[in-house]
Amino acid sequence: MTVTTAIIPAAGWGTRMLPASFSVPKELLPVFDRPSIEWVVKEAIDAGIERIILVSGRGKSGLMDHFDRHPHLESILKKGGKEASIDAIVKRAQAAQFIEVRQGDARGLGHAVLCGAIGASDDRVAVLLPDDLYLGQHPALGDLIALSERYPDQGVIGLLEVPPDQSRKYGMVGGSWQEDHMVIDRLIEKPEPADAPSHFAITGRYILPSQVFDLLRHQDTGALGEIQLTDALQGLADNQGMLGVIPRAKRFDAGDPEGLLIAGLRCALDHGSKDVRARVRHELER
Ligand code: UTP
Repeated sequence: MTVTTAIIPAAGWGTRMLPASFSVPKELLPVFDRPSIEWVVKEAIDAGIERIILVSGRGKSGLMDHFDRHPHLESILKKGGKEASIDAIVKRAQAAQFIEVRQGDARGLGHAVLCGAIGASDDRVAVLLPDDLYLGQHPALGDLIALSERYPDQGVIGLLEVPPDQSRKYGMVGGSWQEDHMVIDRLIEKPEPADAPSHFAITGRYILPSQVFDLLRHQDTGALGEIQLTDALQGLADNQGMLGVIPRAKRFDAGDPEGLLIAGLRCALDHGSKDVRARVRHELER
């Protein structure tokens, strides 16, 4: 059976995005004409995902609202003859089955993924971190699913080549390349450049065999007193096996203000009307 369920952990505090994220969940901040989370959900659906488990928290109910119908607004739009806007609401709400799970206490990414287990009954589940925006023709998750279909018992993660001095910002992996993918044997959270096993970082796209939930359930708290996903990924690498692939789409860090701004400009140039594209180019050059 192929991968049709995705967990989107979105219960973090978003401290890098303050003050913008003080009273608005950072996942609802706009990237061009829609909240950043909608681009991530679109990527998942384009890759064949049918069920989305949003792991949210207090103050983040707007995330689920964004993928819900809105009868009052729809009737106002209807009176104004704005049928296209109604269609967009209906299409968004019906694009997948959305399930909200509350994390309650933000005890780390591993814990957030474990909270999503309640809605994930298949042998493999996709995980997409909304801080990582992948934009381009080919949905990044689709590249991971394609590799996962060839090796369904193993985990697959998205990789990004980073300059050596940036290893402190990422989980870094080590292993050997075979054709188009890396066979990963080591994962280290935010190492010093000298300790990084390669130049390849983990980005926020994963296909995980369901054994990950058992590993997380029995895992002690790790760095920062949190349940770290990277520790469970090492468990998968040691047992089922873990592969890495570099998605073809371009990755943007939507978890920080500059990354969000640049992603917005990219989207305006890729998805805006002719007038919007011309105006953005003009403003950037003047
Ligand atoms: P981060 O720790 O990078 O993001 O978690 P954050 O906490 O939201 O943001 P900063 O660093 O304070 O600015 C990576 C992803 O895991 C989710 C976050 O929402 C983000 O999508 N996460 C993290 C949870 O859902 N729960 C947690 O307990 C921790």
